Amino acid sequence: MAILAIDQGTSGTKAIVVDDSGILAVAEREIRPRYSAGGAVEQDPQELLLSVLDSAHEAVDRAGVTLEAVALANQGETVLAWDPETGDPLTTAISWQDRRAESVCAELAEHADEIHRKTALKLDPYFTAPKMTWLRRNLTREGVVTTTDTWLVHQLTGEFVTDTSTASRSLLLDIDRVAWDESLLEIFELTGERLPRLVSSDEIVGMTTEFGSPVPVAGLIVDQQAALLAEECLERGTAKCTYGTGAFLLVNMGDVAPRLDNGLTTSVAWTLRGQTTYCADGQVYTAASAVRWLCDLGIISSAADLDTIAAESSDGVLCAPSFAGLAAPWWRPDAGAFLTGMTLSTGRPEIVRAVLEGISAQVAELAALATEELGQPLLRLRVDGGLTRSRTLMQSQADLLQAPIDIFSSGHATALGAAAAARLALDPDLDVADAPLPWTPAHTYRPRMSAAEAEKFRKQWRTAVEANLVAKE
Ligand code: G3P
Repeated sequence: MAILAIDQGTSGTKAIVVDDSGILAVAEREIRPRYSAGGAVEQDPQELLLSVLDSAHEAVDRAGVTLEAVALANQGETVLAWDPETGDPLTTAISWQDRRAESVCAELAEHADEIHRKTALKLDPYFTAPKMTWLRRNLTREGVVTTTDTWLVHQLTGEFVTDTSTASRSLLLDIDRVAWDESLLEIFELTGERLPRLVSSDEIVGMTTEFGSPVPVAGLIVDQQAALLAEECLERGTAKCTYGTGAFLLVNMGDVAPRLDNGLTTSVAWTLRGQTTYCADGQVYTAASAVRWLCDLGIISSAADLDTIAAESSDGVLCAPSFAGLAAPWWRPDAGAFLTGMTLSTGRPEIVRAVLEGISAQVAELAALATEELGQPLLRLRVDGGLTRSRTLMQSQADLLQAPIDIFSSGHATALGAAAAARLALDPDLDVADAPLPWTPAHTYRPRMSAAEAEKFRKQWRTAVEANLVAKE
């Protein structure tokens, strides 16, 4: 079964052609979001679309096989307005990292508890609805406003759909009923908006002729959840972290959506075979974005330099690279990044190390919250994404987590997850457990630091974060 699986992410689009024997071809296109003052992070919709079409055509040409399905994993909470008649974009795409809807969230603070009860998310500009409200107030009232997946699928098939995992990131979905909720639409001043039809990840949503003869489009799913599926986190308590533009820890929570009081959020992992599975998720908004910042400042010339430049020890320098705010458990969109504890001997090596430790410390905090909720430790963490190539980051992650870290066997977990969902759409007899391709870790990192040292570091780091948050008040 040859499937074209597209991973449309924040910093790039990857397209793979995969069959039951493995990946046959890969093509990628880089994307550069535009950052500007006031927390604006925007993307050019045409650039997103071109990156999808170009990478997809290149992968298909390279593979030279007949496609049986096209699958799409999407970046989740990035929104745009577009004309449903012509498909033309009416605005830029407002990235999930954009913080301008902070004012909308502040205005709606009195509804935060109700929103949490219904959606199991937090009222934060990261999620979709506040950005939709902000866009409607500030950019246009014309057309429809949706996440990028809906627009891209419309470009391919003419259909108007979104999958349940993407919808569960919107703050507009009743997480238990898995249905749009009128009262939430009202809270966000979105009553009357045309919302896409909700589909399962194993549903054929339409046909595309983009690659010649008509091919079914199936396997729509948010990128983080796609990686969870590819990494076979199919049992409650299994977890993965993807180190992409941001780093996202997801833990399978089974078939009931918990409301987490410790700051983690709950989303739909996927709806497959008529059954919805939920996951707890914690977010580090800037991981590869923080590394890109190191590059932009000339501290390193590319991510490949991380391990050669990073010092053995950060020598007391601590960093929270929270350039786009802090999510769980703090939920402070206004928290900037910080570096503290520098001396006259601090150089590039200590700064690089501190940034990497800042990422792994945040992930360790998220994992501790998940552990608390599960009532059992995370026995191991499966990981994927570009930054897993950094030995320094991965070793620090194993140290601070005090658990083994299994590196996923492929650099394309997200696309492989979307392909697994599409496989289920094509074959009604296939079990969910058999949909992901089998894999063994490319490498396992084990803790080298003692539990006491790890706890000491994490405490110092947490104290620095809290102090920075107080200073911002
Ligand atoms: O929630 C945003 C996330 O899904 C984006 O993922 O791969 O673009 O960092 P990525």
